[in-house]
Amino acid sequence: MHILITGAAGFIGMRLARRLLAEGQLTTARAAERITRLTVLDHVPVQGLPADPRLRIIIGNAADAATLALITEDAVDAVFHLAAVVSVAAERDFDLGMAVNLHGTLALMEACRRSGRTPLFIMASSAAVYGGPLPPEVGEDTALFPQTSYGMQKAVGERLVDDLSRKGFLDGRSLRLPTIIVRPGAPNMAASAFASSLVREPLMGRAYTCPVPRETPVCVLSVRRVVDSFIHAASLSTSSLGHTRTVQLPGLTMAVDQLVEALAQVGGQQAAQRLSFAAQPEIVAIVRGWPVRFASGRSGALGFRADASARQIIADFVADELDGRIVP
Ligand SMILES: NC(=O)c1ccc[n+]([C@@H]2O[C@H](COP(=O)([O-])OP(=O)(O)OC[C@H]3O[C@@H](n4cnc5c(N)ncnc54)[C@H](O)[C@@H]3O)[C@@H](O)[C@H]2O)c1
Repeated sequence: MHILITGAAGFIGMRLARRLLAEGQLTTARAAERITRLTVLDHVPVQGLPADPRLRIIIGNAADAATLALITEDAVDAVFHLAAVVSVAAERDFDLGMAVNLHGTLALMEACRRSGRTPLFIMASSAAVYGGPLPPEVGEDTALFPQTSYGMQKAVGERLVDDLSRKGFLDGRSLRLPTIIVRPGAPNMAASAFASSLVREPLMGRAYTCPVPRETPVCVLSVRRVVDSFIHAASLSTSSLGHTRTVQLPGLTMAVDQLVEALAQVGGQQAAQRLSFAAQPEIVAIVRGWPVRFASGRSGALGFRADASARQIIADFVADELDGRIVP
């Protein structure tokens, strides 16, 4: 089986690539299939993957039809589409967001269609698709009125996944991600980056100023669970998905303050004391439009799982990304 991951230098893509290489197989609705080739594509260098004869690293533009055609010429069976211009960046640069998130996604789908192989196509969507007046709990059946260009681009991507799957051009699934934590290294340009930074920076002994107020609600899912979810999505049968290929992933909803409490439980009070709060209007405006509670009925029935607790998410981050070391 030949798998393509776009955006593989990123937070989620890198961890998904490592996991697929380690497992050596991907279970689809047909069978557990051996991975013979993993192509990873990003426009920045992909560092941090083990040397592996199955691995092919391509540094290129995931929105470029010629690059994509070259990759899919080589019989791609499954695509994990994670490359994106994330929320704040797509809001600041409309042309770039459209080129990558909308036209790039279409170009990738077109390459899949032209391959004639109906590959599995698992796309990272986002809770940014929701907007406007929202019910107390949102889910796959909530009407979508995204309030950012990024949210609109993801929402259109979901509809494309549904339609191209209906036509048999690909076998798609769109996973609507809540805020994924805890991102190591430098923050990206997502409005949600604060949810990782307020955990990571204090644990590494650094002060951090959170750009949203303490009472701001967030819905979080760990990077471990989101990687599990992408792999699980590949195993689902078409018939189990019903009228839409979109799944709202579950998460833990809490106020920023509760995340800070969990930080103190894992890293001690001194970690929590490294935080301060100063609202940044651009971030607050985006975050205020986000839904707070996500329905988990469909995702639960399909076998997707949220994390046990914020404390566990943070403890896993310390184990996975900090080699168990917290700066006192
Ligand atoms: N992390 C989250 O909280 C979250 C929440 C909702 C949705 N998502 C979605 O999940 C996916 C992965 O998110 P992430 O947190 O790993 O983001 P990330 O920013 O860490 O990774 C995205 C990667 O895409 C690459 N990329 C961007 N444009 C490209 C292009 N034209 N060609 C090739 N590569 C390109 C970037 O270089 C980057 O490595 C994205 O589609 C994002 O929109 C993430």
